[in-house]
Amino acid sequence: MNNGTRIKLYFLPTCSSTNELLKDEKYPLFSALLCETQTAGKGRWGRKWFSLSKGGIYISIKLPKEKKYQIIFPLTIIELFNEYSLATKFLWPNDVYVDQKKISGILNETIHRGHISYTISGAGINLNQSMDEFPNPLKEKATSYYIEKKRKIKKDEFVDKLILKFEENTKNSFSEIAKKLISYSLLKRGDKIIVSKRNETYEVIYEGIDEEFSLCARVGDKMLKFYSGEVLKIER
Ligand code: BTN
Repeated sequence: MNNGTRIKLYFLPTCSSTNELLKDEKYPLFSALLCETQTAGKGRWGRKWFSLSKGGIYISIKLPKEKKYQIIFPLTIIELFNEYSLATKFLWPNDVYVDQKKISGILNETIHRGHISYTISGAGINLNQSMDEFPNPLKEKATSYYIEKKRKIKKDEFVDKLILKFEENTKNSFSEIAKKLISYSLLKRGDKIIVSKRNETYEVIYEGIDEEFSLCARVGDKMLKFYSGEVLKIER
């Protein structure tokens, strides 16, 4: 499938993980792979991404190794849900939320093969799943478009729009994309949050996101910067 965009979309009914399959050399840059289900969907930090429901979207895109490409998916997903009248928020580093429930997560992987380097950006988007379809531990943490709006979206239509919007967003600079994304932030300055980084957790006060896209936080008078990590809890 190709909608006159630079991104060429491939479809498979199922695969292990769209991020893994796209590592195959046969896929050039700007290939996107969409699968109806995944048998070994991967999340960040070695987590699994529940991918057995056909109501979800599992899609990855092979992209140049440039920082801006790592933050296009969350912005694109937020902007697209807006068009479907669902207000979603950005949670650093790469998630999309409705209130305190996750509706989409992104896994970026940078691959180095000899002289060639590229990024694979993979998005899991909860579109048409009902609450029953999520396994128990996810029921409290996840939501979908269907759960929020009580109506379904045609998957093909959503994916076509997603590709077009993603492509549009690639035309902007890193700072333009970052600025827009931060304007949708779920976190507000002064929020008490728990951030994890590898095996450590930190209880901090959120200060903002800097020009390098690091999370800036404070403990007392001490400023901390997180280049990577996860926000585990927001206390308001
Ligand atoms: C996270 O929030 O931990 C990131 C989840 C990323 C899931 C997507 S689904 C499509 C792509 N293929 C994978 O195996 N993972 C990503």
